[in-house]
This record gives sequence, structure tokens and C-alpha cells, in this order.
Amino acid sequence: IETKRYYHERVLDHYNNPRNIGSFDKKSLDVGTATVGAPACGDVMKIQIKVKDNIVVDVCFKTFGCGSAIASSSLATEWCKGKTLDQCLEIKNSDIAKHLSLPPVKMHCSMLAEQAIKRAIYDYKLKQDKLNEGASKDG
Ligand code: FES
Ligand code: FES
Repeated sequence: IETKRYYHERVLDHYNNPRNIGSFDKKSLDVGTATVGAPACGDVMKIQIKVKDNIVVDVCFKTFGCGSAIASSSLATEWCKGKTLDQCLEIKNSDIAKHLSLPPVKMHCSMLAEQAIKRAIYDYKLKQDKLNEGASKDG
């Protein structure tokens, strides 16, 4: 009841029923991984995407942090699923914050989610580049 004063009900919903908690094999070639941290508070968020034909077919997260960070990552994973990589790159922390009605002091929690998605995509693309380089060297 106390928390209700501080958190919007959508935050509480994601906090109580987080979507897509888990982890994938970091080494798997179709997986992109990002772990980001907020220096201000020490919270850590990990988001992983599984990609097929340029589409995020699965996604998961683990967040050690405040309710807003957990809700932001949970929501971000929902927004990523089934989208193309380019569409996922367009997910903005301001949209996450707006959807969850985050107060200004909690903006950085949604920043973590945007960052994590972008870096997970980057990690995936880097793997593909390395694969392609390897392939062209072989052929
Ligand atoms: Fe308390 Fe982030 S500041 S969990
Ligand atoms: Fe730092 Fe939420 S991530 S307070």
C-alpha cells in the first residue's frame, strides 16, 4: 500500500508479474546480450534477444534494481518481441517512462532499458559480422 504512493499501477503490474524473466546461452550465435548498469544507484539490467531473419523471436531479462528498472525492462522485452531489429532500435526510454508514468527521478531506470536493447542488438550484429568475416576468409 505504501508503494502505491510512489509507483504507478503499471509499474506494480510488471514488478509483480514480470514478463520474460530468464536468460539465454550467451555464446549462442543467434543471441545478443547486453548488461548495463546505472552508476547513480548501482542497479544492473541484463537483456538478451534471440534473432531469426532479422526479427526478435524471443527475449529475456534479469534486473537487479528498483521497481522502475524491473518494470522498464519487463515492458521493453514485451515491446521487442516479434519486431524487426530496426523497430527495436526505435524504442525510446521516454516512451517507456511515459507508459509507466515514471517520475523524473526514475527516468534513468527507463534509460537502462533503452540502452540494454540497443547494446543487445549491437552484440548480435557484431557476432553476425564476425561470422561473415570468417565465412569470406574460408571461401
Ligand atoms: Fe534503489 Fe536503484 S536506487 S534500487
Ligand atoms: Fe536506479 Fe531505478 S535503476 S533507481
